[in-house]
Parts: sequence; structure tokens; C-alpha cells
Amino acid sequence: MSGKVVAVAGATGVVGRQMLLTLEARNFPVSRIKCLASARSLGRTVPFKGEEIPVEVLSEDSFEGVDIALFSAGGGTSKKFAPAAAGAGAVVIDNSSAWRMDPEVPLVVPEVNPEAIKTHKGIIANPNCSTIQMVVVLKPLHDAARIRRVVVSTYQAVSGAGSAAINELLEQSRALLSEQPYPPKVFPHQIAFNCIPQIPQSNAFEDNGYTNEEMKMVNETKKIIGDYSIAVTATTVRVPVLSGHSESVNVETEKKLTADEARALLSKAPGVVVEDDLPAQRYPLAVNAVGKYDTYVGRIREDISHPSALDMWIVSDNLLKGAALNAVQIAEQLL
Ligand code: A2P
Repeated sequence: MSGKVVAVAGATGVVGRQMLLTLEARNFPVSRIKCLASARSLGRTVPFKGEEIPVEVLSEDSFEGVDIALFSAGGGTSKKFAPAAAGAGAVVIDNSSAWRMDPEVPLVVPEVNPEAIKTHKGIIANPNCSTIQMVVVLKPLHDAARIRRVVVSTYQAVSGAGSAAINELLEQSRALLSEQPYPPKVFPHQIAFNCIPQIPQSNAFEDNGYTNEEMKMVNETKKIIGDYSIAVTATTVRVPVLSGHSESVNVETEKKLTADEARALLSKAPGVVVEDDLPAQRYPLAVNAVGKYDTYVGRIREDISHPSALDMWIVSDNLLKGAALNAVQIAEQLL
């Protein structure tokens, strides 16, 4: 049999299911698939290539003979089981934040720093969803004009918080439209018809007043682009959108770039689509990005408050480029 033995840890989750779909859609050469989740999922199956694959309980013994292990089952699970998987000879591509800032672990967006993959010692980290879609746009601008500072505000979909979060938005919206109460369970506040400037939903805040998600954007951007002199500040916000993260990004560069120059650079950038036609009211929208592999950028304009800065709006499918697709692209590079 040709192809690789691939394990997906968290195969019943929102991202795990997208990983299976993406492997299938991109014809990744899989000789055998192992679908792993918690004991709660024992007896369940998940679809892959027209078959129903029985879910196995994730354990340290799950990785015998596995070539590639895609993890998306939470940070604690990755911390606990990724070393066992790597020890058994698999290359782990981990979607959690557990290993991202470990200096021994490459943090990879294939369009930005594919060369980092070669340095892996068994674990490769998949970056934060909001960071991935931002850096694919920042990298060509940095190469052309050296970015000094980035100010980003995000508008993040609930699917980034898993299946329970999607259900909460849908059920809470239905309840409130029928004038029924629906107290928050997953989110710290009402998410339907609201915006919550706190990600993640628990233990979010660091001593400096930023959330973990905001500090991920700050630290991961520098590591992926490989330039720790870039200043980054972020405000990350959960909005009542099912899928597709949007970002308002202000980019200050050393060398001035006009909006036309930025559009020209970005239209040649891999994985990026410029969608910027103001008379037609065309700009990136979360609802249009869902199911797509690309990252969309528009509303590109010169910042009127600064001699050398641009404003832009960046949108991508957080479950695809922000998670499953980026992980599968890393696996493709490993081949
Ligand atoms: P399970 O479905 O058995 O709970 P989501 O974020 O979409 O809710 O999905 C989380 C994924 O991570 C699910 O596949 C879930 O499995 C899996 N998961 C969570 N905790 C564990 C664990 N301790 N061991 C194995 N899988 C886990």
C-alpha cells in the first residue's frame, strides 16, 4: 500500500473533521487513517473517503506505525500525547498553542517560512488562526518595505471555540428571537447579537492586561516572520459569526508603500486574493471566505494619520487556513 499512515487526534471536533475533509479534498496520500478522540466518543464513527471510520480512544499507544499525527484536541492533550507520538516515530503537526513558542519547535505557515519545517525534531506547531491569516498578508509587505509596527483588531467567529460554542450561538440566537432566556455556558457573556472582547473564554487575561489570544498574535507573528523587531499590538474580539475571522490591520512600514503598490505586491502573494473594488462595494466578507483556501484582503488604503502606514481588512476561513488547511499544507511539505 502506498501513502502515509495518518492519525487525527480530536477527529470528532470542529477542526479535526475539517482536517479529515482537507486530507480528502487535497488527495493527500493516506494508506491508513486513525481517528482519535476521548473516551466520550467510543462507539462513534467519522466519515473519511466514503467510509465510516471507528473512533479510537487517544492514548500513548495510539501512534505505533503512524507517519503523521495531526493534533487538534486542546493544549493539555497535545502537551500530554504529542511527545509520545513523536517518540513512536510520527511527525506531529499540532494545532494547539502547547508547543508554539518552544524554541525547539518550528511554527510554520508554508507561504511564509516553509524552511522552518526542516528543523523539526518530531513536533511542528500550527500557529494561531488569527495570526496565520495576518502573516500571509504581512510577509510580502515586510519583504518589500520592512514592517515596523502592526495594530490589529480581530472579529473572530465562534467556530474557533469548538462545537459547543457554535451550538451556543445558534441556540442562544433562536432563544432570544423567541424572547426566551438563554444564559451563557461556553462564553463569559451573551454572544448572540453581541461582541465580546475576551478570547479565550476562560483564564484569558495576562498580567499586562492583554488576553492570551492577543499575546499569541504578538509573539507568533514575530516568530513566523523571523523578525523580533516588529512591534505588534492586538485586540481580539469574539463576534456572532459562525465561521470566518475578519481583521482590521494597520501596518506601519519603514519604506512608504502606496495602496496601489501594496495591492500589486499582494496580488502576487501565494495564498492571498486581493478583493478591493470600492465602486462595486467589493471587499472581503467572512460569509464568502467560508470553505475557501485563500486569505482575502481589501479596503487597502493609505493611513491619513501617518506618513508611512496602510490600513486593510483581512478575512479567511478560520477552520481552513486558520487551522486544518495550514496543518495539511505542512504535511504536504513533509512529503
Ligand atoms: P470528544 O469528541 O471525544 O470529546 P471541539 O473543540 O470541536 O469541541 O473538539 C475537541 C476535540 O478534541 C474532540 O474531538 C474531542 O473529543 C477531543 N478531545 C478533547 N479532550 C480530549 C482528550 N482528553 N483526549 C482525547 N481527545 C480529546
